[in-house]
Amino acid sequence: MRKQIVAGNWKMNLDAAQSQALIDNLQSKTFNDDVHVAIATPYVHLAAAVSQTAHSAIDVAAQNMHQAVSGAYTGEVSASMLKSIGVTTVILGHSERRAYFHETDALLAEKVNAALENDMQIIFCFGEELEDRKAGNHFDLVTSQLTNALFHLDVTSWNNIVLAYEPVWAIGTGETASPEQAQEMHAHIRTVLAGQYDDALAQRISILYGGSVKPSNANEIFAQQDVDGGLIGGASLNADDFTAIVNAF
Ligand code: PGA
Repeated sequence: MRKQIVAGNWKMNLDAAQSQALIDNLQSKTFNDDVHVAIATPYVHLAAAVSQTAHSAIDVAAQNMHQAVSGAYTGEVSASMLKSIGVTTVILGHSERRAYFHETDALLAEKVNAALENDMQIIFCFGEELEDRKAGNHFDLVTSQLTNALFHLDVTSWNNIVLAYEPVWAIGTGETASPEQAQEMHAHIRTVLAGQYDDALAQRISILYGGSVKPSNANEIFAQQDVDGGLIGGASLNADDFTAIVNAF
């Protein structure tokens, strides 16, 4: 059985006290034991979040990292720095990074390599924009995002990869892909993985859906055969909503 994962992407929200309070609140909840839970806090809260969650099952992830080992990259953070404070998971390729910070597939391939060199777990995000879907290009676009950023990897490296399909038109818009649209794309992704690698790899990779997942729709999305969890933005800032989503499996 594939690993089921619900990860919260806090984006650029919450100050230190609010972060601590939300984690306290989450730690008072009872989560479905079968689901692996992660929260991606802003960089400045990561170290505190790691120590706060030391005795809980909540994993702490970074929302981004730089591809270089170290050097003159003002404002940036490397994989080894994250590892040194106990952060072993990183989100890469989020559509906001692609759109606002001009991250390309080629750059993301470098970031993926840097994360893997540090044996980090990667939640790799990708997904089409509305124009792609309207033009019927969404399957090809997703195939090219995966091909360009990830298909140089060997089979073993995929032990560290979780995929997160996030149609850009559904992120923070309140508009969710229908369960059927999510399932159809997730099945497509497995077919592409099987073509590039083999069916065993395609069947073992967890593929999360992201984009306006809420307590009210999580259940029907997670019920889809090829959906193994979610990457949750807005709803991850509320402990009750996030818990309800984790427990929607
Ligand atoms: P959303 O964000 O749940 O607020 O739509 C999802 C994401 O960006 O990962």
